[in-house]
Amino acid sequence: MFRVTAVATLLLASFSSQAGQFTIKTTNTISDTADTLLLLVSPEQLTSNPQIAAISKQENFTATHGNTLTWLAPGTPYSQYQRVLLMGTGEAEKLTAYQASLLGAASVRSLEGSAASNIQLDASLISPAIGQAEFLAQFSHGVNLSSYTFDRYLSEKKAAPQRNLYLLSSDQSAADTRLAQLNALSEGVALARDLINEPASGIYPETFVKQALALRKLGAKVTVLDEKALEKAGMGAILAVGRGSARPPRMLLVHWEGSKQQPVALVGKGITFDTGGYNLKTQADSILRMTSDMAGAAAVLGTMHTLARQKAPVNVIGVMALAENMISDRAYLPGDVIKAGNGKTIEIINTDAEGRLVLADALWHVETNYKPRAIVDIATLTGSKVTAVGNYYAGLFSNDEQLVAQLTKAGEAVHERVWRLPLSDDMLPELKSMKADLRNTGRSTGASTAALFLNQFVSETPFAHLDIAGNALSDSSKGLHTEGGTGFGVRLLTEWVLTAE
Ligand code: BES
Ligand code: MN
Ligand code: ZN
Repeated sequence: MFRVTAVATLLLASFSSQAGQFTIKTTNTISDTADTLLLLVSPEQLTSNPQIAAISKQENFTATHGNTLTWLAPGTPYSQYQRVLLMGTGEAEKLTAYQASLLGAASVRSLEGSAASNIQLDASLISPAIGQAEFLAQFSHGVNLSSYTFDRYLSEKKAAPQRNLYLLSSDQSAADTRLAQLNALSEGVALARDLINEPASGIYPETFVKQALALRKLGAKVTVLDEKALEKAGMGAILAVGRGSARPPRMLLVHWEGSKQQPVALVGKGITFDTGGYNLKTQADSILRMTSDMAGAAAVLGTMHTLARQKAPVNVIGVMALAENMISDRAYLPGDVIKAGNGKTIEIINTDAEGRLVLADALWHVETNYKPRAIVDIATLTGSKVTAVGNYYAGLFSNDEQLVAQLTKAGEAVHERVWRLPLSDDMLPELKSMKADLRNTGRSTGASTAALFLNQFVSETPFAHLDIAGNALSDSSKGLHTEGGTGFGVRLLTEWVLTAE
């Protein structure tokens, strides 16, 4: 990974945020110590050099996007190298930022098991429309994201060699600027993945807060509301959810004030483990996945890290509603009536619909205390969302057309895409309770009634809800993802914050 990661590793006291094993540097000439040449070629260029033409023909190499050919002991003009890794780009001019990052990921996977240690990237044969500096930075971003590992609990660390990657660049300073920004983003994603991959024994509200305190060193303001402060503010919803656990709930606020404009607020669901409570999750695979029920909060913290790290000229408040949903003699029960911070009473129909409760208090708190110009929450909120749109897209719920357009566009740009689902007051009767102002589930327990419930805790501010159930974990290494936590949302939210006016 980049040199700068070492700094982040020191800041994150107990976890090492390892975003890979590559040290990446730009160079203005081909390195003479490189043992490996990583040469990017488009299909048309295969014929331009007789040696490449010959080996491609012999090996049936076609240079489609991400396709690779390892050419050992190449002769002239490549005799300085032990190997040439030819990588196809497909139609090079049309490469998007995301496709450039996928090439970086593909190169990491083709180098797995190889002895390559000093790798020279040569992308000078291609001229993508996004520009060389952007291309190289996105390529590196893909290298970093796909070489992420979580080996904290392995007694024998995978013997991943430290590798150097040299990027041949005609404008080093432009490339370095973008590299630094995307490096901050890779770090933010790695931080979110670390938090998700860490089991509930290691990450609970207080230890999550500890990780966030490291952001103070980057200039962010970190505020923590403990159970006393939550009680004083009347936030009975997050308190009810957290009450069954020996590990008390926390409301965590990280403020990056990189400009004086009116802030935007990011709100994350941080259930560090979701047993379901007395409405216990009874399927082994579904309860097992609930170590990732704080992925929304992890995405918010990862985004805040990224913004602070690159000193982004934006004003953003990240709020993370942290609690552990447990069973005990103190736990909240089905049928309980609780009172949220905004004074609304809620009948608990199902203790497994806990995310919307902690978010209710967080939404109300941030709206009333910071008057943001927009609020976006991100949460692993409902199984119904997974049924509706699957694991690739996030569910987007909003009645603010500008927010819908901005988030859709940001999602396309970084390939963390969103799909709009209904948020409609037509469904309000479903949330009506006989004995309280609201019930915590709709009569049809869907993603839309969950979103509508959240909407009851925002009064005037433009609001969007992102349901990332299913997006938080990947069952294999593919694309930019590695197995386990994906960090979904860090790239989307960062892009949104940096581009939304
Ligand atoms: N954390 C779960 C939602 C979830 C499900 C996330 C699958 C990731 C993968 C949430 O707290 C939950 O339990 N939701 C219930 C709500 C229901 C009881 C109204 C659900 O969706 O089943
Ligand atoms: Mn639940
Ligand atoms: Zn949950």
